[in-house]
Amino acid sequence: MTNIFFTVSGEHKTLPFAEINAILESECLPYSRNKVFNRVLSLTSTLESAYLVACRSSLTKVCALELFRCDAEQNVIQRHMSEVSFKDHLKKGQSFSVRFTSFETSHISTLGLEREIGYMISQKVPEAWVNLVDPDRCFIGFFTDSVLFFGVKIAEVSAKRFIERMPANRPFLHSSTMPPKLARCMVNLARASSGCLVLDPFCGAGSILLEAGTVDCRVVGSDVNDLMVEGCSRNLEYFRIPFDGLIVGDARKLPFKSVDCIVSDPPYGRASSTHGISPLELVSDFLLEAMAVLPRGGYLSLALPSDRDWKAVAMDLGYVFVDHHFVREHKSLTREILIIKTT
Ligand SMILES: C[S@@+](CC[C@H](N)C(=O)[O-])C[C@H]1O[C@@H](n2cnc3c(N)ncnc32)[C@H](O)[C@@H]1O
Repeated sequence: MTNIFFTVSGEHKTLPFAEINAILESECLPYSRNKVFNRVLSLTSTLESAYLVACRSSLTKVCALELFRCDAEQNVIQRHMSEVSFKDHLKKGQSFSVRFTSFETSHISTLGLEREIGYMISQKVPEAWVNLVDPDRCFIGFFTDSVLFFGVKIAEVSAKRFIERMPANRPFLHSSTMPPKLARCMVNLARASSGCLVLDPFCGAGSILLEAGTVDCRVVGSDVNDLMVEGCSRNLEYFRIPFDGLIVGDARKLPFKSVDCIVSDPPYGRASSTHGISPLELVSDFLLEAMAVLPRGGYLSLALPSDRDWKAVAMDLGYVFVDHHFVREHKSLTREILIIKTT
């Protein structure tokens, strides 16, 4: 076990951290959570955890091996830097870069620090050379909450990874479609490990199934609207995501026997119709039905309109509440991402 840290997207305050925990839990990787900072999560875990998070996460930016963490004061930083054995991380002939990012206003110049630390490393490892374009090793520092995290980059999550599956780049498009980043995050929050069977019973154009399939889950879906099922199937085929089943059916009478977890975005009666049933009745009936297809402790990750107490609804039906997060879409829509599990 070693100290690693993750820097996360500033798009949401709690989701990025919950997503990392859920990814590690889903693959049963050992970790202990050290501390959550504004934009940094520090853990004691294995390097495998960092690679897994980098592969799967939607809201993580960088994963790094922590070399030290200290108060964001120039003299304190210099003292810690002088104690780092850079030779352990930089071999003869290798190139390196040093980058600092500040998530807060700071009196320390990140550019000045990059030059100073770059020079210090060159003195300590004279056989290594600076390469800012394609270095063998990236030393990175992040200022957050008046603390500096300094480490060696293990992996960087490309912001471009979702672009090819953006709604506009799919053969079938619908106004109710969820953005791929949120869909991926919801798949992760459902503890969907690779190989497990994920169901979306309100699959629409298939954003959730696309993301689940992209991280090697097996996927099944259904929707009451045959045009949606057809469109979803076109989207999955276009991105070469195999599916175990895609069926026209009502989520209140699920056409599947058993699945490992459910990730879904039921209709709110706005961009997609509830076919005359109130969202409360529809979701309650579906939740009752879902119990029959999930294993004990099986997770559901649901996007719901934040206009009622869904936590209470789920608990009244016998589910265990795990977590929830509120995501503001626009002035008149805030989504609640509700994570629950069966007993
Ligand atoms: C918000 S959309 C899902 C969007 C989808 N997550 C996506 O990103 O494309 C909700 C879907 O639920 C479907 N639906 C409505 N009532 C349903 C029911 N009783 N059973 C199953 N699907 C239903 C609608 O046809 C619609 O496609």
